[in-house]
Amino acid sequence: MSITELRKFVAPETIFGLGALRVVGQYASKFGITKPLVVSDPGVLAAGWTDQVVASLAEADIDGVVFSGVTPNPKAEEVMAGVALYLEHDCDGIVAVGGGSPMDCAKGIGIVVTNGGHILDYEGVDKIIVPMPPLLCIPTTAGTSADVSQFAIINDSGRKTKIAIISKTIIPDVALIDPQTLVTMDNYLTACTGMDAMVHAIEAFVSNAQSAMTDLHALEAIRLVHANLLAVLRDPNNLELRARTMLGSMQAGLAFSNASLGAVHAMAHSLGGYKDLPHGECNAMLLRHVIDFNYSAAPERFRTIAEAIGLDGRGMTDTHIRAWLLSAVDSLRVEAGIRDTLGSRGIRPGDIPILTEKAILDPCLVTNPKPATKRDLETIYEEAS
Ligand SMILES: [Fe+2]
Repeated sequence: MSITELRKFVAPETIFGLGALRVVGQYASKFGITKPLVVSDPGVLAAGWTDQVVASLAEADIDGVVFSGVTPNPKAEEVMAGVALYLEHDCDGIVAVGGGSPMDCAKGIGIVVTNGGHILDYEGVDKIIVPMPPLLCIPTTAGTSADVSQFAIINDSGRKTKIAIISKTIIPDVALIDPQTLVTMDNYLTACTGMDAMVHAIEAFVSNAQSAMTDLHALEAIRLVHANLLAVLRDPNNLELRARTMLGSMQAGLAFSNASLGAVHAMAHSLGGYKDLPHGECNAMLLRHVIDFNYSAAPERFRTIAEAIGLDGRGMTDTHIRAWLLSAVDSLRVEAGIRDTLGSRGIRPGDIPILTEKAILDPCLVTNPKPATKRDLETIYEEAS
């Protein structure tokens, strides 16, 4: 697309750096919140971050109501339990602290408390009419970037699938991004969330809804995540490295929130909903195979990605660059410690048509650079098995 084409870019107010978590009380107060629902999960609670958020709120004389009943791949019923608690305590704002699951659940709660009904009524693009209550997000992983995005992914456990809710009304009001929170992640979670960020950046860069503004963030995110993910796995307490992966994740989030995603996410949503697998792991297992499928639709874009992660592509043909890039993304996954395949994670050939039926309907597929048929998706799932 031409740089002169009219495009929109949306992002929340963002505070980035060590100590960002500790200003949550001050920010809640600025938004006039007197009783926030603090949405978190058991792991984040055990790591101590939820207590630090509650303490910062208390310093501003704000009494938070903690809701930590969120599991990985947050379920619609967890959203509805959060809605009941919000209404029971007459809350007037939401603070989310955690990875993608608590933040997506918090968005779901916000949608239902102001719009009514059930969270599953809001599947799709631009279905939210009334703005949510104020939402402040504190991410504790460097991957999801739900704190800066207009996406929420909720698991419909009845249908064993994930639904995507996409609307600018669910962009948080404030993202308080504190790299300190990353040090309590174990290495596998760091690897999976880092690969999620990498996939966000790559899919945004090759999306058919990219723009000059999303390209800036996507390319820098690809560079930052590629240059720092393995280093941070070797030195997990290094705050400088943690901050670089966090910045990469944030930039990937700004890119994909505005350019949307592609087939990796469409297929990973279906897979994660069906088998309750970690989202980043699903993405990592599928990435190489989707790039292989998409390459011919955007060779110049994939060349730029390869060059951003270290290829000197002068004089190289597309065939060579494609092989180099496939090998580079695969090495990153393996060296980061993600070595499973769909097969080793229990996906059988008979599961693939079911996964495909759901993936083909995912809104992320609309922006994939190459149109994909059911047969194409089945082949990709087979190759990743
Ligand atoms: Fe993702």
